Amino acid sequence: MTTVRGIDAKRLAEVRRQEDERFVRERPRSHALLEAARRVMPAGVPMGWMAGVYRHPTIFAVAGSGAHFTDADGHRYLDMNQVDLSMTCGFDPAPVVEAVRRRIAEGASFLLPTEDAIAVATLLGERHGLPRWQFTLSASTANIEAIRLARVATGRARSLVFDGRYHGLIEETSVHETSQGAEAEVMGLAVKEGSAARVVPFNDLGALERALKPGDIACVITEPALTNIGLVLPEPGFLHGVRELAHRHGALLAIDETHTQTMAYGGPTRAWNLEPDIVTLGKSLGGGIAIGAYGVTPRLAELMERHLLGDTGGHGLGLGGTLHANALSMAAARAVLEGVMTPAAFDRVDRLGARLAAGIEAAIKRHGLPWRATRLGGRVGHCLEPDLPRNGEDARRSIVPDLIDARRVFMANRGVWEAIITAGPAASFAHTESDVDTYLVVVEDFLDAIAG
Ligand SMILES: Cc1ncc(COP(=O)(O)O)c(C=O)c1O
Repeated sequence: MTTVRGIDAKRLAEVRRQEDERFVRERPRSHALLEAARRVMPAGVPMGWMAGVYRHPTIFAVAGSGAHFTDADGHRYLDMNQVDLSMTCGFDPAPVVEAVRRRIAEGASFLLPTEDAIAVATLLGERHGLPRWQFTLSASTANIEAIRLARVATGRARSLVFDGRYHGLIEETSVHETSQGAEAEVMGLAVKEGSAARVVPFNDLGALERALKPGDIACVITEPALTNIGLVLPEPGFLHGVRELAHRHGALLAIDETHTQTMAYGGPTRAWNLEPDIVTLGKSLGGGIAIGAYGVTPRLAELMERHLLGDTGGHGLGLGGTLHANALSMAAARAVLEGVMTPAAFDRVDRLGARLAAGIEAAIKRHGLPWRATRLGGRVGHCLEPDLPRNGEDARRSIVPDLIDARRVFMANRGVWEAIITAGPAASFAHTESDVDTYLVVVEDFLDAIAG
């Protein structure tokens, strides 16, 4: 018998076939929209990922409220992925809806600051520990700007990243050095010898030290836990070791809290006292409105002040964009920080995350499977191995498309929108205990279907 992570492959394929067929049959309106859309957009979508990240036909969304959204065929889904942790505040968080409504009626952007920017920078400083802030329109761009700043501060070109990371589809971190030279991870990125990132395994301080020794790394950039390859937690002392080694070898430390900002108040940067030189953020911070942000030390802020880019020529720092830090994204972020991502809300999400992980572990046990659940705050990872992953290589063994795709289609047919393949389910600020329990019932049903 051929098996997939302990599951009969034939049985899994049959479940998948039945669920795929049902998925298509029950969504005729999305199918018709996709046919029409293909005439005006590649793959019928306005952004390639909307087709590329699913192995089933794309459906069209109509409306969302709280942790649920509906599609064009009237199906209602409990969303356990929240647009890859971009909509963790829910689809219609009342404080954000109100702030955005008010702001857009009075002007969304001025190429001038509004008072909301002071409030947002102050609140972020209190949470993430860094005193000066800048804003962009995405986390990817926040990371690009953070790395440019580190280059200017250190006079070096390369970043150092950990295997299994994702910091956006950016040349700074998605082009890496190999023994054969620089190599891009996706098509279209310019491969540059000398500035390609160096990649080392997570949780391996020895490898990190060897990679820092040549003295050409401007910046070590990492998430506090890897969240784009399931979930990999740092071992005790690892992140403090990263900081110490980076500084000893003249590099800065940037912590990318784009996802993990939702997993602890102030992110693990605060919870674990990480003291980085730069923190980057995005996604949920805008409550659905585009935003990216990065916080820096006073020394880096001073560097920025000395090299401001003006419009009369000269060589300032290459940072900024016309709509960056616009009044609308500042108003939305203020509403998120003051009204949604409150300390009490984080406590609640943490309890939901514990319930989710415990429920998954219990279901796995009941089915006699050698799997685990891993967790950080509300975010949980399905680990399809007996031991939790220590690094990207371990974690990759749990990214099993046949199994994960079968699970997501099975769940979609039962009103649960499951995570994209490299994510895991997450309890959000909009979920309730009963939502978590609904998810767990469907997990149980799925394991019954594939493992009996
Ligand atoms: C850790 C991390 N950083 C940065 C990004 C880039 O975010 P965006 O695509 O919103 O720019 C992502 C996206 O998944 C991410 O997970």
